[in-house]
Amino acid sequence: MTKKHIITILTFTLLLLLSITTISCSLSKSAPNDTDDENPDLTVVGFSQPGAESAWRVALTDSVKESFTEDKGYKLIYKDAQSKQDNQIRDIRTFIQQGVDYIVISPIVETGWDTVFSEAKAAGIPVIICDRNVVVSNESLYTAFVGSDFKAEGESAVYLMEKLFEDSEPDSNKPLNIVHIQGTLGSSAQIGRSHALELGLGDHENWKVVYEDCGEFTKAKGREIMAMAIDELGAENIDVVYCENDEEAFGAMAALNEAGISYGPDSGIKIVSFDAVNTALIMCMNGQISAEVECNPLQGPYIYNLISHLKNGEAVPKITYVKEQYFTSESLTADFIEGRKY
Ligand code: AHR
Repeated sequence: MTKKHIITILTFTLLLLLSITTISCSLSKSAPNDTDDENPDLTVVGFSQPGAESAWRVALTDSVKESFTEDKGYKLIYKDAQSKQDNQIRDIRTFIQQGVDYIVISPIVETGWDTVFSEAKAAGIPVIICDRNVVVSNESLYTAFVGSDFKAEGESAVYLMEKLFEDSEPDSNKPLNIVHIQGTLGSSAQIGRSHALELGLGDHENWKVVYEDCGEFTKAKGREIMAMAIDELGAENIDVVYCENDEEAFGAMAALNEAGISYGPDSGIKIVSFDAVNTALIMCMNGQISAEVECNPLQGPYIYNLISHLKNGEAVPKITYVKEQYFTSESLTADFIEGRKY
């Protein structure tokens, strides 16, 4: 091989390497950007969920997905943070890098959002909070909140507990022993529901929380906590289990079943729960759960409505509470439950 041949081969190899590098660089630049869509007319919405810990949350995800479809002119990018705030913050940063048009977030806890929301604001991306609320240093860091009034939900639960035990009110010295299974600590769902219970304790001298622990809004933790409460207190010393969501109530009932302890209308133990998913409503209709306070996950249409107004340059309310109600066995029928979406 001549010197000339060697130079030609080397030049060719160099050019080949250069073009491969250029192609891979341009690919890696576009890969993280899901917004490079075939249809540039679509409005891109990044939706950050804290996790999928409950049937309720799956219903919220479905509601948002059904509301932001391509035939309505939207591309939805969905992220599940696996129950970690750090992951949610990372997901929002990804949305910012992708240049989405709107960010929708259901925040796992109330605090810790200032920095990442400031980054979204600096990028000119409106942030819409859904489901749970946030506490930030400056309200201008987000555009609007759509979700539940958790304190009002807790107040409904306290009212239903008063009704459940009103026959024993004349004998108000008899203690009403409450096992309190809390939701994820620091989430506005937990804060509001726990706060209402604390106010209820203040109003009723005989109400006592005899066992309290965080059930993380899951069935597994609800079951574990209930089993420990039974072990420590004995079933005869428990009157009410205040579960901060239906998953925890399902777990508590599993623990009661395993211990052979009855609950419901024919027993001392009453279960009060939040969410009112259909499986829980059937149990409420049958009396196994004594009271259900609804937490409405059908928030997609509310968010859709807000974003439609924002797209038209119109002002939107800072706070929108979704419609919610409460139930006991007397107010439920099979037809009603069948007609519900979650
Ligand atoms: O934030 C709403 C709560 O979160 C619901 O009660 C619960 O089921 C969910 O995980």
